[in-house]
Amino acid sequence: MLLDMTGIRKAFGNNLVLDDVGFAIDAGEIVALLGANGAGKSTLMKIMTGIYSRDAGTVCIDGETVRIEAPRDAMAHGIRLIPQELSVLPDLSVAENVFLGAMPANGDGPLATVRFAEMVRRAQDLLEELGLGDIDARARLSRLTLSEQRLVEIARALAGKARVLVMDEPTASLSEPERDKLFAIMAGLRQAGTAIVFISHYLDEVFEVSDRISVLRDGINAGVFVTAETDHDSVLAAMLGRQMEHLYPPPAIAPGAPFFVARDIADGDTLAGISITARQREIHGVFGLIGSGVQTIGKALFGAHALTGGTITLNGTPFRPRFAADAIASGVGLVPGERKAEGIVAEMPLRENFTLPFLSRYVRGGTISVPRQRQFAARWIDALGVRTTGPEQPIRGLSGGNQQKVCIGRWLVDDLNVLILDEPTRGVDLGARRDIYAHLRTLSDQGLTVIVISSDAEEIAGLADTATVLQKGRSVARFDGPVGAEALMHAAGSSKAA
Ligand SMILES: Nc1ncnc2c1ncn2[C@@H]1O[C@H](COP(=O)(O)OP(=O)(O)OP(=O)(O)O)[C@@H](O)[C@H]1O
Ligand SMILES: [Mg+2]
Repeated sequence: MLLDMTGIRKAFGNNLVLDDVGFAIDAGEIVALLGANGAGKSTLMKIMTGIYSRDAGTVCIDGETVRIEAPRDAMAHGIRLIPQELSVLPDLSVAENVFLGAMPANGDGPLATVRFAEMVRRAQDLLEELGLGDIDARARLSRLTLSEQRLVEIARALAGKARVLVMDEPTASLSEPERDKLFAIMAGLRQAGTAIVFISHYLDEVFEVSDRISVLRDGINAGVFVTAETDHDSVLAAMLGRQMEHLYPPPAIAPGAPFFVARDIADGDTLAGISITARQREIHGVFGLIGSGVQTIGKALFGAHALTGGTITLNGTPFRPRFAADAIASGVGLVPGERKAEGIVAEMPLRENFTLPFLSRYVRGGTISVPRQRQFAARWIDALGVRTTGPEQPIRGLSGGNQQKVCIGRWLVDDLNVLILDEPTRGVDLGARRDIYAHLRTLSDQGLTVIVISSDAEEIAGLADTATVLQKGRSVARFDGPVGAEALMHAAGSSKAA
């Protein structure tokens, strides 16, 4: 084996996160690391790359025990990580981001000068090599789309020669063509002998790219499979420790009258005319490929994005939110797509993150009632199965998927009228997705109008009672009843629709 980890143990406080875990990968192999939210995948990879220390266990490379105590140790052995959360510097150029910490320079120390032209040239060459020649190495990173930034981060990991490359949910914010590009890059690297660890919650992807699948469950090894010799069900059973029940909930029992009606929404940029009608007591799906307006429409409907045209009515009454607070006052909530930037306050405990949108409700006589906040948090920690040590844990200590559950749970108050969810299950494991979908159905049956915006056709097909499809900033199709993923893809103009 190129790399072999054995007996890995890691606890945060008294939370034992990895217990005697092993992981092995050979040169030229793609191994998928699978497990529910909080199973320990990112933690294991952070130990492999020297970001976290371990309490016990050994790491061997080419059969020799090696010392990995810090990121530079891992780098020296050619182990590179593309982390789960985007970690680029938006104010620097693409080239600087690619060569972060390893810029070509004249001399050493504080007086060294970066050879900028050379750096730009090398960065551009690398981008070309990866089939990303469209990206200008001189551009400031913040001018790129989110998925392009992700690709730059991938280029950074490949700037040094990687022997082992860890990709922690790299596809979560990529468009379909970008994902194909990434898979092509991975295939090339594997051919050249690089070992790749691939983390994803999308089983289809895992089966498409991996040679083997290693499953973690609650911090222990739950099985290693040869991809070609296994199937979805066996892998899922190892992941969840039980058979998976139906992922999607039953259809709406009794949809009501149109409640949330948007007409010709435009922003003079990516939104060119979008109309959406969602009824009471239903889940309305909004589907589009990345670039269709699907990434902006949620904020636009919520009043967090400036519009140049269009109208929205709520139960027949004009709704013109100019700030998020206006929308909240009208009983409209938004679970944003960019959790890290828009959703959470990393240092705050779960209790506060859970109660942020409705903070004023917890104020009595000028002070916040902590017990009542805690009560709300505890209720949804339990109902959504959030893996945490409790309401007082800072949210940054939670795994990505569990943070997402908090972003959803905070809106689940009784008197909400409309809940808009932007890519609600990105990074959320299948078990938790099922729980979230079931809650959305319960809430919609109780009267809530639910609008789910997603670039995942399977999700909209499985969940939505009615659906709107976006293409090039316009609503181009509406389905008044159940619709399949193929039909959605077709309406959205995907090349993959058969
Ligand atoms: N810095 C930290 N401080 C405290 N606890 C942590 C920290 N990092 C991770 N944990 C805990 O370790 C457990 C495993 O988290 P990890 O991020 O490894 O999960 P994961 O398998 O990557 O999940 P996901 O699919 O949601 O990304 C979680 O229960 C989390 O609360
Ligand atoms: Mg993770």
